Amino acid sequence: MPIQTTKHIWHNGKLLPWEQATIHIMSHVIHYGSSVFEGIRCYQTETGAAIFRLSEHMQRLLDSAKIYRMELPYTLEQLNAAVVNLVEANGVAPCYIRPVAIRGYGEIGVSPIGSPIEVYVANFPWGKYVAGDAADVCISSWNRLAPNTMPSMAKAGANYMNSQLIRMEAAANGYSEGIALDVNGYLSEGSGENLFIVRGGILYTTPLADSILSGITRDSVITLAREMGYTIVEQSLPREMIYIADEVFFTGTAAEVTPIRSVDRVLVKDGQVGPITKQLAAEFFGITSGKRPDRFGWLTPVKVKASETVPA
Ligand SMILES: Cc1ncc(COP(=O)(O)O)c(C=O)c1O
Repeated sequence: MPIQTTKHIWHNGKLLPWEQATIHIMSHVIHYGSSVFEGIRCYQTETGAAIFRLSEHMQRLLDSAKIYRMELPYTLEQLNAAVVNLVEANGVAPCYIRPVAIRGYGEIGVSPIGSPIEVYVANFPWGKYVAGDAADVCISSWNRLAPNTMPSMAKAGANYMNSQLIRMEAAANGYSEGIALDVNGYLSEGSGENLFIVRGGILYTTPLADSILSGITRDSVITLAREMGYTIVEQSLPREMIYIADEVFFTGTAAEVTPIRSVDRVLVKDGQVGPITKQLAAEFFGITSGKRPDRFGWLTPVKVKASETVPA
C-alpha cells in the first residue's frame, strides 16, 4: 500500500511540512532499530471523527520507551494533545495515526544513550489490512521472539523484523497472514494481530507470557465479550486447538476484528464466519462507527470536517 501523504507531521512539539520530516542516514535508529511506535485509528463516526483508545495507545508508547530506557520528554497528556492537534491540522478522517519515537543522530556505537530522542507523529488515510472478509492463514515456520531476548510487550521497530519474516513467508506461500508459535511451540499471535479461538462457546486468547503484544483491540474485544457474558480464558494454547476450533479471529488496530476462514488450508469449522465472531465484530464496529453507545469512553472526538474515502 503506497503511503498517502498529508500536510503536516508533528515533530518534538512543532508541525513540520510532510516533506521536511526527514532524518540523517547516520541516525542510531537506522543502524540498530532503536525505535518504539504506535498504530492508532481515527474513525469517522455518525457524530464526527473520533480517535479510538488514544490514551491507551500513547500510554503503551510510553511503556515501550520505558522498557528501552528512552526518556520521552512528554507527558501522556502532551502526547494525546499532539495527536489531536495533528489530526485536526491535517483534516483527514478516517485515518491511521503513527506516533514514533526514535534514537536520532549523535553517536555510532551500539549504546543509544548519547543519541537524541526524537518524537514524531504522522497520520494518513489507510484501508483494510488483511485483504478480504475472512483470512486464509498459515502457521509460520518462524517463532515469535523468545522471552528475555526482545521484549514483546514493547512495540519496538526492531520486533517487526520478526513480523516481516512471518508476513513475507505467508505471502510467498499464498496466505494472507501467518500465525507464529512461541519458543515453546504454543500459539502466539499473527505478525501484527492478536489471536482468538472459540470452542464450545468459550473464548480463548493467548497470554502475555507467550510473546504477544498486549493488544488494545484484544483488550477491547475481551471487554465486549465479558459484557456479553462470555467466559474468556487467557492461557497457553497448543497449535492443534486452532484446527479443531469453532471460530478463529484476529484482532488489531489495523486488522480490527478479522475472521479466519482457514489455517494451513484446514477450514475453521465449515469456513463460514461464526456467530460469536459476528457478534463481537458487530459490537466493535458499532462503537467505532458511532452507531452503538461508547459506554467505555473509547472515542476521543476530533474536529475534522473533510472526510476522505479510504481505499479498501
Ligand atoms: C505484533 C502485534 N501484535 C498484536 C497487535 C495488535 O495490537 P493493537 O490491537 O493494540 O493494535 C499488533 C498491532 O499493533 C502487533 O503489531
